[in-house]
Amino acid sequence: MQRIIIDTDPGQDDAVAILLALASPEIEVLGVTCVAGNVPLARTARNARVVLELAGADIPVFAGCDRPITRDLLTAEHVHGPSGLDGADLPEPTLPLQPQHAVDFLIHTLRREPPGTVTLCPLGPLTNIATALRRAPDIAPRIRQIVLMGGAYFEVGNITPAAEFNIHVDPEAAEIVLKSGVDVVMVPLDVTHRVLTTRARIAAIRAIGTRVAGVVADWLAFFERFDETKYGSDGAPLHDPCVIAWLLRPDLFAGRRINVEIETQSPLTRGMTVADWWRVTDRAPNATFLGQVDAEGFYSLLTERLARLRP
Ligand code: RIB
Ligand code: CA
Repeated sequence: MQRIIIDTDPGQDDAVAILLALASPEIEVLGVTCVAGNVPLARTARNARVVLELAGADIPVFAGCDRPITRDLLTAEHVHGPSGLDGADLPEPTLPLQPQHAVDFLIHTLRREPPGTVTLCPLGPLTNIATALRRAPDIAPRIRQIVLMGGAYFEVGNITPAAEFNIHVDPEAAEIVLKSGVDVVMVPLDVTHRVLTTRARIAAIRAIGTRVAGVVADWLAFFERFDETKYGSDGAPLHDPCVIAWLLRPDLFAGRRINVEIETQSPLTRGMTVADWWRVTDRAPNATFLGQVDAEGFYSLLTERLARLRP
């Protein structure tokens, strides 16, 4: 059993990642912490509860940081729509938001649980994670692993020519996480751009025939339109579910343990993940940076698991 906390900025792809985790008995979701990213915090905190209610899951949801550590918030409504979950009309959530701040939940949970038993799965800007590490450095050795969606190397950037969105929004937070000494696994655009939501793959999800699967197919049909236009591809990269898929089936992925540094100074390359893939520096390895994925295996896993969500 993998016991995880999902830190997220839903976002249709975040939503599918949460559903994949909920559908997988190998995983226990201790809580969902929300961060400002794709859309402002009030919406990500709402959207996370919408997703959990769609799956009939009663898991605590916490609101976290509403802006990056030092910078102004940058959002991505142009990709996800103004609600952040455009594509399907779902009712307002009745699941309450927890009164505790997400950063306090992270700290208290990591101090309470046995060391090395909780994995953090950030799917958005790393503001909550970095704030917890700064406020409570003692939690770093207690974290089993941080498996995050973010960064890019061979694939280059998606929000700027140099940077991937999650890292670009809060590069200082990413730097704190990568210098924390915690065992970090990065799922970058190099991987997520190989798992495109093609027409056939969306049709296979819709063919499951459940309400959840229909909503997922509608979300993906909306979510992909921006990247299809931008890249001229059949389908869009399905970023965040790759994090959960790695937990379930790491054999579907390949990467290498290398040094990754974050650009925080240059306006031109802010948020660039400078991955020493070819080990040309003497900088110490600090992350497992993934570069390959079995796309068919990923979608088979995702589709099979989504079919298990029956409400
Ligand atoms: O660059 C892709 C990442 O940014 C994904 O996590 C997506 O949800 C957005 O947050
Ligand atoms: Ca996200």
